[in-house]
Formats: sequence, C-alpha cells, structure tokens
Amino acid sequence: MESSLEATFFRIPEQVLSSSGQRMPRLGFGTAVYPLVPPQVTKQAILQAIELGYRHFDTASIYGTEQQLGEAIKGAISLGLIKSRKELFITSKLWCSDGHGELVLPALHRSLQNLKLEYLDLYLIHWPISIKPGIYELPIRKEDLLPMDFGSVWAAMEDCQRLGLTKSIGVCNFSCKKLADILSFAEIPPDVNQVEFNPLWNQKKLREFCNANGILLEGYSPLGAAGTPWGTNRVLECEVLQEIAKAKGKTVAQICLRWGYEQGASILVKSFNGERMKQNLEIFNWSLSEDELKRIHELPQSRGCDGELFTSQYGPFKTIEEFWDGEI
Ligand code: A2P
Repeated sequence: MESSLEATFFRIPEQVLSSSGQRMPRLGFGTAVYPLVPPQVTKQAILQAIELGYRHFDTASIYGTEQQLGEAIKGAISLGLIKSRKELFITSKLWCSDGHGELVLPALHRSLQNLKLEYLDLYLIHWPISIKPGIYELPIRKEDLLPMDFGSVWAAMEDCQRLGLTKSIGVCNFSCKKLADILSFAEIPPDVNQVEFNPLWNQKKLREFCNANGILLEGYSPLGAAGTPWGTNRVLECEVLQEIAKAKGKTVAQICLRWGYEQGASILVKSFNGERMKQNLEIFNWSLSEDELKRIHELPQSRGCDGELFTSQYGPFKTIEEFWDGEI
C-alpha cells in the first residue's frame, strides 16, 4: 500500500504539554464506537491506523475499547509497525462512578490492566460529575448523579502522575469556571481539557481561558460525531463547509480538521474506515485562507452534545445551563 508507506514516514505535528512537558501528537484517533462493533474490528482498525501513521489514541474505561487498544499496540510491535509503546501517546479516562478520591488509583490500575500497559500518557476526568460507586452500566440513572469533590479527586489524579502511572493529567468537559476551581488548588495543573470542538461549536471563550492558563484544548467530535447518540450530521451537512470544501478540492471532514488544527487545538477524530482514516491525516500540507476562516467563524454556534443526561432535579446540576456554568 503505497500511501500507507508514505504515511509511515510522516510525523504528525506535536504539542508540548505545559505541566508535564510530554509531547502530544496534535491529531489523535478516537475509539468511542457506536453502535458497538466486535472487538476484533476495533483492534484491526487501530492496527491499520498505526500503520497509516496515527500515534495518538484516545480511549476511556466506559468505551469498552481499552482491551482492544492494548491488543492492537502489542500487535503493532510484533508486526514491526512500531518499535515500542513509547512511540505512542495513549489517553484513557476516569469514569464518573470512580470519581471519588479513594477510587481513582484503583480505576487507573484497572485501565492499565485492560491496556496491558505500565503507564498512560494522559489520564483525564471524563465528566465534572460523579455517580454512585460501582455503576458501570449505561444509560446513567438520574438518581445516581452526585456532585464531584474536585479537591479529593484531583489530589488522587496528581498522585497517579507522581507515581508514574500516567505522564500527564487533565479533565474533560470542564467549563472556564470549573477549570478555575481546579486551578485554584491544584499542585499539578491540568494539562488538557478535552471538549466538543468543531466549526459549529468553536469554544471561543474556553479556548481563550485555556490558552491563558497553559491548558491544551483537545477537541472531540470534530466532525460532529454523526451517527452517535452524542452527535449529529449537522457539521458534515453544513452548507458553508460544503461550499468551502468543494471550492478547495477537500472534503468537509478535512476542512473541519484543518480548521481545528489552525485554532491551536489538538484534535481527536474517529474513523474505522481505511480511506477516511487516510483522508483525515491529509491536513498538514495546506491551509485555510483568511476568507475561508472568516466564513467559518461566522457560522451560528451551538452545542451538539448538551450534557442533558447529567442534569436532574435530584442531582448537583438541575439544568444544562448549570451544568455548563452558563457557557451554552
Ligand atoms: P466511520 O468510522 O465510518 O468513518 P467524530 O470524529 O466527529 O466523532 O465523527 C465520527 C464519525 O464521522 C464516524 O461516524 C465516522 O464514521 C465519520 N467520519 C470519520 N471520518 C470521516 C470522513 N473523512 N468523512 C466522512 N465521515 C467521517
């Protein structure tokens, strides 16, 4: 496969994380799959991604893909696609039911056991809310939602980094207000805030806050996560993006990924389709014009993933507004 060989020698640009000094490839491969596919399909897709040149992989304990990622890493080493695990950047996430100070370290050990790795590159708090311990089933039941004690959970995340079980730590889905809360007491500041990020939800305010505080904004759903319960096809079907893509001889997906990259973010894209995996890597040798950027920045903004499932009359956040601290 000629193009795969080309990709193997190509290196995705990296970002040095402020707190840990770790280098993160700025385009990563997502492994949240919906609907679920057989484990072998996930493993094969990841192996193909490694062959094509992806080096950054994002999983979470709740995705159920840690084990397959671990097997793919092992497979990639034995096939000689990479020499060692050190060539990869691996992220996993703390699920809400483990979002209790004393449960963080055991949860990370379980993730490492699933992945068959000695350390993660990045461990993230998945959502800024806890649920009752021991519950790993979806959907989340509203009556199980609990406020997260950021102090004890973040202290445990810091211990994970100090123990060398993860090189860096961070959060996901945090508003400016919640980040400021963590920053007010953190001994190790979060390196990353992973959030929804695409031309229709450009996170302008959060990006400015993250930039000012040395936190890298990492974008999920860069294409709008079409076909999943947490996404829609509105990004891929956006007329302005389609016009720009057509005029430029690119796909809408490439326009979205290039745009996110040009905003300084790190981008996570999921595709288990070989052609699309390849296409999504081909965004580093061209750029968007001033006029194209202006048109994209004028697009009306709204969240695709509104966090409604984390709101409840019984829980810490009664409304979507409260959950995002008004950043909607
Ligand atoms: P598939 O895995 O069949 O390629 P996001 O990264 O925003 O979460 O979006 C993921 C969704 O977008 C998946 O359904 C994926 O499907 C699809 N997708 C990924 N890359 C492309 C692409 N280049 N063009 C069109 N759809 C894509």
